[in-house]
This record gives sequence, C-alpha cells and structure tokens, in this order.
Amino acid sequence: MENKKTLFSAVQPSGILTIGNYLGALKNFKKLQDDYNSIFALADLHTLTVRQEPENLRKNTYELTALYLACGLDPERSIIFAQSHVPMHAELTWILNTVTYPGELSRMTQFKDKSIKHVDNVNMALMDYPVLMASDILLYQADLVPVGADQKQHLELTRDLAERFNNRFGETFIVPEPYISGSAARIMSLTEPDHKMSKSDANLNAFISMNDEPSVIVKKFKRAVTDSDNKIIVSPEKPGITNLINIYAAFTEKTVSDVEKEFEGKMYGEFKVAVGEAVAEVIEPIRQEKIKLLSDKSYLDSVLKSGADRAKYLAGKTLSKVYKKVGLVPPVRG
Ligand code: TYM
Repeated sequence: MENKKTLFSAVQPSGILTIGNYLGALKNFKKLQDDYNSIFALADLHTLTVRQEPENLRKNTYELTALYLACGLDPERSIIFAQSHVPMHAELTWILNTVTYPGELSRMTQFKDKSIKHVDNVNMALMDYPVLMASDILLYQADLVPVGADQKQHLELTRDLAERFNNRFGETFIVPEPYISGSAARIMSLTEPDHKMSKSDANLNAFISMNDEPSVIVKKFKRAVTDSDNKIIVSPEKPGITNLINIYAAFTEKTVSDVEKEFEGKMYGEFKVAVGEAVAEVIEPIRQEKIKLLSDKSYLDSVLKSGADRAKYLAGKTLSKVYKKVGLVPPVRG
C-alpha cells in the first residue's frame, strides 16, 4: 500500500444501478481513486437482508463488477472485491455486535423504512445491516467513505462504534469521515420528486437505470414530473425542476446557478430534452463498455479473485488486532 490515506466504499448488487447511485457514489469513486489507497466492495451480503432471487443476485454481482470497471475504476490501482469472498467482514460484525445496542439499530431510518416495505420479512440481518457496514469500513482502517446522503446515518453509527470500541479496548480503529457531495448526493425520483430515486422502485419511469438506452433516457426525462409555472430555478416549492437542475449540473459539471442562467426564459420541454441528452452522453459509453466486459466472465472472476486476496490481507491484520484486544487466544498454527 502506498503512503496515502485509505478510501473505502461499497454498493449493493441488488439490481441495475440508477443515475442516483452513479452521481452519489460511482462518479466520486472514480474522481477520488488516485488520491487514496482505494477499496471498493460489492456488498453482496447486505443484499440478502431482503429476499433475492439467487440467479438474479449472481447476475447482478457480475453486472456491478463490470459497471465498476466501465465507470473507470482500475483493478490494478484499486482493490475491487465481493464482500462475501472476505470472511473477516462477517467475523468483525460478530465482535462489533457486542458493542452495539438494539435500540440504536431500531432507530435507523433505513431499518424503519425497510421494515415497512418488507413487512413480511423483518429479519435479524436487516436490523444488523449497519453493523456489517461498519465492519466493511473499519476493517480497512478507512479515512474517507464516499456515499450518497441516505447513508449518512449509517456512517455516524460507524463512527460511534469505532469510538466506543477504541474507548473500551484502546486505539484500534481509525474513525472514518463521510464524503457526501453537494446537490448530487440525493437524486430524487422522476415521478415522485419528494422520494429518493431508487433501483427497487416498481415504476420504471421513476428512475434512469445505467442500462437505459439514450432514447429511453430522453423519453423518461420528457415525462418527468414538474410543476406548471415554467421557471427553471431551484426552489423548495419546485422539487421536480430542482432535481432536474441538479442532475443536469452534475452530468455537465456546471454549477446550479450556471444552469439556471443557461435556461432562463426557456420552456420546460426544451430543458427536459437537454437533461436527457446530457445524461445519455455520459451513460451510453459506460453502458457499451459494460456490455463488452460482461462477455468475459473469467476476466471479471480474476478481478474479484485478486481483489479478495488483497482485501483479505488487510482485513486479516485488523481482525487479528481486534481479537487480541478483546482477549481471544490466538489459534496455534501448524
Ligand atoms: P446502495 O447500494 O443502496 O447505494 C450505493 C450508493 O449509492 C448512493 N445512492 C444515492 N446517491 C444519490 N442519490 C440517490 N438517489 C441515491 N441512491 C443511492 C448510496 O448512498 C450509496 O453510496 N449500505 C450501502 C452499501 C454499503 C456501503 C458499505 C457503503 C455496504 N457497506 C460501506 C459505504 C461503506 C448501500 O446500500 O448502498
């Protein structure tokens, strides 16, 4: 490892990613990867907290591996691996569970939301989800964790658990900082702009998937819900237009106020087409590259294998330290 700070993040392979995931996470992964020792996981164990079709989960795991690469993550420079390939994540979760209280987990917004959405399957792992996430991060002694705004509360819990463990057992973990980037950190649904854009939305028009073709992207933006006053400005009373401005600004690397100026006096129709085209221009080459990568599964397997080998080495170091601190007897080798 080079003498740089460490960055860790992960994404669940629970479906085809949306432009929300891209703007809140993947785009920043690419931007930051060279400034840090970067580690990117596929949080496949996290996906099991809600029901998955086994075949789809496997397919989505390859999809996400290919997408990471297509978005510019470099498996030579960064560590890319599947969480389930590195057993230390589950092992550290057990230890961290001993310093976590049910009350703090049942208060998590995501747990409350998912308990309503999956009322027939409120399982222990769903509640323990943030502890597994803390383990992901703390195992690698990460300094920085780029995520969308919806993960902020989980990051706060991770910091609390690291501090609590350090106080009880002595300095063990680095307390990580979140990296949550401005107006693109919470991209909203195109049909219900007061809800987060989500890959699990039943309404396909609510999100732009990273698999959508340019014509579909433009069509979905044309249909996006807006208001009736035709002013292209950011305002709490205009969540639909605000969301489209944020998306356009993020995809064109412009500031929100530049976008407002650019479209002053223009009609919504024209703006929506411009947003669709700007998004498609970035997404389409990524989609094409991903299709190419997906045709070579053995290459994707080799990326995950080498990533897991490197991750295991780092995770093993932290886990040994933790086991020693809590008083477990090291196993006799040989
Ligand atoms: P996941 O898979 O739900 O989402 C992946 C990333 O995308 C961000 N995101 C969004 N950003 C902006 N607008 C949106 N509408 C939007 N929707 C999602 C998420 O904030 C996230 O950064 N628990 C995590 C995965 C995880 C993880 C970790 C992340 C597991 N272990 C350790 C960081 C560190 C999750 O479910 O993300």
